[in-house]
Amino acid sequence: MSFNIAIDGPAGAGKSTIARAAARSLGFLYVDTGAMYRAIALHLLRNHVEAENTDKIEGLLADMTIRIAYSGGEQQIILNGENVTSQLRREEVGNMASKSSAIPKVREKLLQLQRDIARDNDVIMDGRDIGTYVLPNADVKVYLTASVEERANRRCLELKEKGIDADIEKIEQDIRTRDFQDMNRSIAPLKQAEDAVVIDSSRMSIPEVMDKIVDAFQESLKLK
Ligand code: DC
Repeated sequence: MSFNIAIDGPAGAGKSTIARAAARSLGFLYVDTGAMYRAIALHLLRNHVEAENTDKIEGLLADMTIRIAYSGGEQQIILNGENVTSQLRREEVGNMASKSSAIPKVREKLLQLQRDIARDNDVIMDGRDIGTYVLPNADVKVYLTASVEERANRRCLELKEKGIDADIEKIEQDIRTRDFQDMNRSIAPLKQAEDAVVIDSSRMSIPEVMDKIVDAFQESLKLK
């Protein structure tokens, strides 16, 4: 039987950095479900569809294929046969993903893919609804969060390191909007699973957060 670790939390809490590093150290597959929602969002943007146009979106979903593959241990997203991984991190794509992921058919499209990967592999899967909805029986559930200010600061630094000008107030506002949308949609909203280990990383280093996750993993091994 496969071993599943679910990591949920709001945008910018460090989920992907932590999950990727933990997956490497445990020899698990890292599954970034946000990237799958972003791939759908990219497809919608390319087709100039508004997030409110549910009928058109449902039509586009019917002819769209999403696969994941791994190259050098890194998850790749294949949209209609094209590797779109490098195009998914744009702000515009993330904002569209936050809106379009509230549409039930969009979530349905990805649910089975996510469950199949977790059934067949030891995974660390991150997202918004993994512990609550996608993998309710995950062996370890982590809810990773951080204050809005800290998340905005980290994002700002990340952009500056890439030589991109960043307006911290705008970033903070975007984070608040994303949090609101992700936590208040009617289907599979972001919330803490009752049995999740909650980690607030606002004042923690990456190794400190990793240690907590490895501790939770060791504990759950005793129960397995
Ligand atoms: O984690 P991320 O920023 O790449 O995710 C982009 C958006 O996708 C996020 O704002 C909400 C949506 N999402 C979701 O609804 N459910 C998930 N399991 C993962 C992401």
